[in-house]
Amino acid sequence: MKILVINGPNLNMLGRREASHYGVKTLSDIEEAIKGKADDLSAEVEFFQSNHEGAIVDFLQDSASDASGVIINAGALTHYGISMRDALVDSRLPIVEIHLSNIHAREEFRHHSVIASIAVGQIAGLGWRGYIFALEYLVAHLREEGN
Ligand code: DQA
Repeated sequence: MKILVINGPNLNMLGRREASHYGVKTLSDIEEAIKGKADDLSAEVEFFQSNHEGAIVDFLQDSASDASGVIINAGALTHYGISMRDALVDSRLPIVEIHLSNIHAREEFRHHSVIASIAVGQIAGLGWRGYIFALEYLVAHLREEGN
């Protein structure tokens, strides 16, 4: 079972970027923690980060057929990335949306997510552990469904 773990714009800057919102771990620290959990769960993860919406669309088109689910922190694309949303729908995969910060407790423009209505669920505000919880959930959910 392979889970795609996608991070959008500016998430490559984690550790140096607004630590009060996003914490002090770098993206590679977080990916290492996710990989450790995936190993514990005997699941496979594939990581992808891009600052470009089209690159995320390309990645989904290339990788979805070989995957069982998606964990995505789309960064600011969460709020307006319609072509990314279309590619997520097209993947026909179960999606867990994640945010390090609680987007609902921040500026109003962050409250709306174009992904939320096509996701199985959303985790926001639990920091880097949100990715771990998302993975635990998705693997359990997929196994229940017989994957
Ligand atoms: C974010 C929240 C977004 O509003 C923001 O643009 C990000 C990070 C989060 O993880 O809290 O880049 O997705």
